[in-house]
Amino acid sequence: MSSFLTLLIGFTCFANVYCNVLREALPVDGTTTVFYVFGSEAIYIVEPENKTVLSTIEAGDLCTPGRGSYCFFGTEILVRNELIFFGDYGGSRVHVIDVRKRKVVETIATEPRPYDLYYLPWLEEVWVHAWFQSTFDVIDVSGNLEKTHKAIKAHITPGWTHGFMVANKEIEDGKVGYVTHFRNPGLHQLDLTTKSYKDFHNISDQGCHGTFYIAYSSLNKHTFVECFRADFILEMDLTKEQVIRKWNFSGKPYASPDGRFIVALYISINRTTNQLLDSKIHVLRISENEPTSILKTFDIPSGVSRLVFDKKAGQQSGYVVYISLHFSDKIAILDLDELESGRDALRYIEGVGFVQTTPYSPATARPLFVSGRWLVSPASANDSVAIIDTSTQKLHGMVPGVVKGRGLLAVSLPPPSSPPSPTAGAEGKLRFNGILTLVMLLAPIILHGR
Ligand SMILES: *[C@@H]1O[C@H](CO)[C@@H](O)[C@H](O)[C@H]1NC(C)=O
Ligand SMILES: *[C@@H]1O[C@H](CO)[C@@H](O)[C@H](O)[C@H]1NC(C)=O
Ligand SMILES: *[C@@H]1O[C@H](CO)[C@@H](O)[C@H](O)[C@H]1NC(C)=O
Ligand SMILES: *[C@@H]1O[C@H](CO)[C@@H](O)[C@H](O)[C@H]1NC(C)=O
Ligand SMILES: *[C@@H]1O[C@H](CO)[C@@H](O)[C@H](O)[C@H]1NC(C)=O
Repeated sequence: MSSFLTLLIGFTCFANVYCNVLREALPVDGTTTVFYVFGSEAIYIVEPENKTVLSTIEAGDLCTPGRGSYCFFGTEILVRNELIFFGDYGGSRVHVIDVRKRKVVETIATEPRPYDLYYLPWLEEVWVHAWFQSTFDVIDVSGNLEKTHKAIKAHITPGWTHGFMVANKEIEDGKVGYVTHFRNPGLHQLDLTTKSYKDFHNISDQGCHGTFYIAYSSLNKHTFVECFRADFILEMDLTKEQVIRKWNFSGKPYASPDGRFIVALYISINRTTNQLLDSKIHVLRISENEPTSILKTFDIPSGVSRLVFDKKAGQQSGYVVYISLHFSDKIAILDLDELESGRDALRYIEGVGFVQTTPYSPATARPLFVSGRWLVSPASANDSVAIIDTSTQKLHGMVPGVVKGRGLLAVSLPPPSSPPSPTAGAEGKLRFNGILTLVMLLAPIILHGR
């Protein structure tokens, strides 16, 4: 019997030590940042500092393969730092992960092809843009995650779209959302309060036959609209339904968080041969009362993919831009202050792995996400993710075993609070039951083996 007791005590100690180790792994005074990377086989929870995959959520039942069989095709959003919403593109539904439980806790049916998701915190709502007919579903996130409205139109006639929404608490008090549609010559306005269709702003007189990517500057309150398959971008005052200026370049515009810059990424690829034809960056300088000016246009040889802004390390103001590349295992870094003062502002971080580039595949973009000290970007062709330390702007390392990462976001959690929550208590009891069960299962073996 003594060996049984030893084992029992030993195992209990092991369980306790294991739990203490887990608890101590979290910095006591700070927060822990983890990245959720959405891959083809699973959602990977990556801890950047030690470059480890902490756990995974299997894609299995969460993902309905459709044509092209892409899992987790659209955008993922974080609500109140508690819940992650993401679409099952082929399955007409969105799933919700509770970041404390690290698992899916809710699934909500939507219109087909849910692609881009928006969290509107001032309304406590998530708006889901379904691309099948260009409509929106609304999920109330203030309580029980209930779908309150479905199929709000964002089109002239129902039908297939690619499009995006700009909605901001600052724009008309957060009461109007503006939606692009790649086959409609303008912007659809949605009434965010009544959750209904409002109006269409027709800009076909500008030579715009469809609208696509869109960015809003919080500084001059202008919106930059890319017209689909056109060679210009429109700077607009949406509230006045006014075109301020037609810029003679194309690309996907991004606004810096302070609204002082618009950076547009332009890439042209021959879809048949997968050959890069052109790759450029255009930078606009925005001021509050002066007209917008072009700061610089330059070529980036390896094909610009996506970008992310990051505050300059150790400084009050100023941003750097990290730009991922299509055909290179580098990430470009552009210092906007340096660029403004006319200095050489472009550098590269090498050895970050490659993104998968398949001819005709829309799934080849390389996303990046920055949170605090860390920037993470999946290298889908290497089945790994690159981690960059933004304080040194150097590669911190690669995390292997992340299969075909496509989308990602970061979650920063405060240290676990000292008074145990009811769930923590329940988990403790479960763990105790688990130990007991294991001991009971082992007991006959141990007793027999003596
Ligand atoms: C990384 O690992 C070290 C050593 O195991 C540990 O002390 C530290 O807390 C870990 N960092 C994070 C963020 O988990
Ligand atoms: C947009 O305006 C053009 C030119 O005035 C017109 O021909 C077209 O029918 C309008 N489209 C819509 C959907 O209002
Ligand atoms: C765009 O316009 C600027 C002048 O505003 C000119 O310098 C530039 O060459 C033009 N670019 C293209 C691609 O036409
Ligand atoms: C793309 O490549 C194919 C095959 O070489 C060629 O026939 C076609 O003209 C190219 N398209 C463009 C836009 O360059
Ligand atoms: C990515 O894969 C390529 C081709 O297999 C290999 O040459 C390269 O070293 C890999 N890079 C990283 C960072 O793992």
